[in-house]
Amino acid sequence: MIEIDNLSKTYGERRILRHCSLSVNRGETLVVIGASGSGKSTLLRMIIGLATPDDGTILVDGQDVHALAPAELSRLRRRMGYLFQSGALINWLTVRDNVALPLVERGKTVDSEIDDRVERALRNVGLSGTEKLMPSQLSGGMRKRAGLARSLVTDPEIILYDEPTTGLDPVTAHIIDQLVVELRAKLGVTSVVVSHDMEGVYRVADRVAMLYDGRIIATGTPGEFRDAGDPIVRQFVSGALDGPLGDRSAGPRPKSASPPNREEEGAPPQGSPNKE
Ligand SMILES: Nc1ncnc2c1ncn2[C@@H]1O[C@H](COP(=O)(O)OP(=O)(O)O)[C@@H](O)[C@H]1O
Ligand SMILES: [Mg+2]
Repeated sequence: MIEIDNLSKTYGERRILRHCSLSVNRGETLVVIGASGSGKSTLLRMIIGLATPDDGTILVDGQDVHALAPAELSRLRRRMGYLFQSGALINWLTVRDNVALPLVERGKTVDSEIDDRVERALRNVGLSGTEKLMPSQLSGGMRKRAGLARSLVTDPEIILYDEPTTGLDPVTAHIIDQLVVELRAKLGVTSVVVSHDMEGVYRVADRVAMLYDGRIIATGTPGEFRDAGDPIVRQFVSGALDGPLGDRSAGPRPKSASPPNREEEGAPPQGSPNKE
């Protein structure tokens, strides 16, 4: 469904992605893990055409996202839902109007049709009856779910989740994870989830891919990641302090993964949940 080939991206002096390749099968949930600042959000934005690669291609259902004419790109985008890292509800709009936004943007104007779809999307995330509430009246978990309802309202075939559980308490995070699993089962969507919460990864992933130093350095099942032999993967997954990750200013780096000219931003201490 999604075929990422040889993707490179530089912001200023910083090389974010370097020859990054990854594919996502139809109907699966692939979780991309990696430290803060490793380029996970950038990768998602490129899949949906909000950021442009310097090099490489992304095919979504056979269509080259970055070679499409604007009209074709918006048609393709309509098949994708995107849950922003921040949830990004608009504070002065009701839940109903927030969830309805993508429909209105797509030119839907019949209120009864919008209401039906909003009702269905809210039901799918367990928020029935919240239409008239304002975002300020929702808990963090409910805001995330409302954001998810907004990504679902157009019946996407692909959903891109940017750290859907970051900043949530463990129980609420578990609820969101369950929702991701349910949506896959119920709607058969193809999902890409960006995360650095390993517990959530084990709950939702069919397959995991690890982004490190601009590339996908490993892919496999959650079980394979749990038992990973690669020291970088193993340290990330376990959150251990000792290993190739961690104190990047002083410690030795794995030769294969760290060219000397690489600029780096401090990653959070490994194992601290979802710092952003
Ligand atoms: N639009 C942008 N302009 C300049 N730098 C950016 C932009 N978007 C992201 N970056 C930088 O790219 C790096 C990767 O960012 P991001 O993809 O958000 O990482 P992650 O989601 O894995 O935390 C960060 O250092 C970030 O500051
Ligand atoms: Mg991010």
